[in-house]
Amino acid sequence: MKSRRDFIRTGCMHCAGMLGISMLLQGCGTSVQLFKTNTRNDSVLVPVSAFEDGKNMVVVRVSGLENDILLVKKEDHYNALNLRCTHEGYGLTPTSKQIVCSAHGSTFDFDGNVLKEPALKPLKKFNTEIIDNNTIIIHLT
Ligand code: FES
Repeated sequence: MKSRRDFIRTGCMHCAGMLGISMLLQGCGTSVQLFKTNTRNDSVLVPVSAFEDGKNMVVVRVSGLENDILLVKKEDHYNALNLRCTHEGYGLTPTSKQIVCSAHGSTFDFDGNVLKEPALKPLKKFNTEIIDNNTIIIHLT
C-alpha cells in the first residue's frame, strides 16, 4: 500500500506536469512566470523546474481558487503567498521589487509583510514542503 507521500509523488506529479501551462504575466514593467494547475487533496503541486532559468518567483493559478498564489524561492524554502490584499480583498500584482495593490496602493514584501498601508495585516501564507528535490507542495489547509 502506498503512503500518502508516495501517492502524491507518483500519481499527482504526472497531473501537475500535464496541467502546468507556462506563460508570462506582463505588467508593471516586469514579467512573472504563470503556472496553471488544479488542487488535489487540498494541496497544489508545482515542479521545481518551474523555477528554471534563475527565476525566483512563479504565479500559481489554481482552478477553483479565487486568487492566485505567489510562490517565492527563498534560500532554503519557498514562500506561498495568497495574492489577495488584506485591506479590502482586491487581487495583487507582483513586480520585481514588491507586491502591489492597485486598488488603494498597499505594498507587500516577498515574505508577505506590509510595506505601505492602508493594509495593516500581512498576506496569508500557505505551508509548503519539497519532495525529492523536484516537487513543491503547497498545502491549502
Ligand atoms: S484593497 Fe488593497 S489597498 Fe485597499
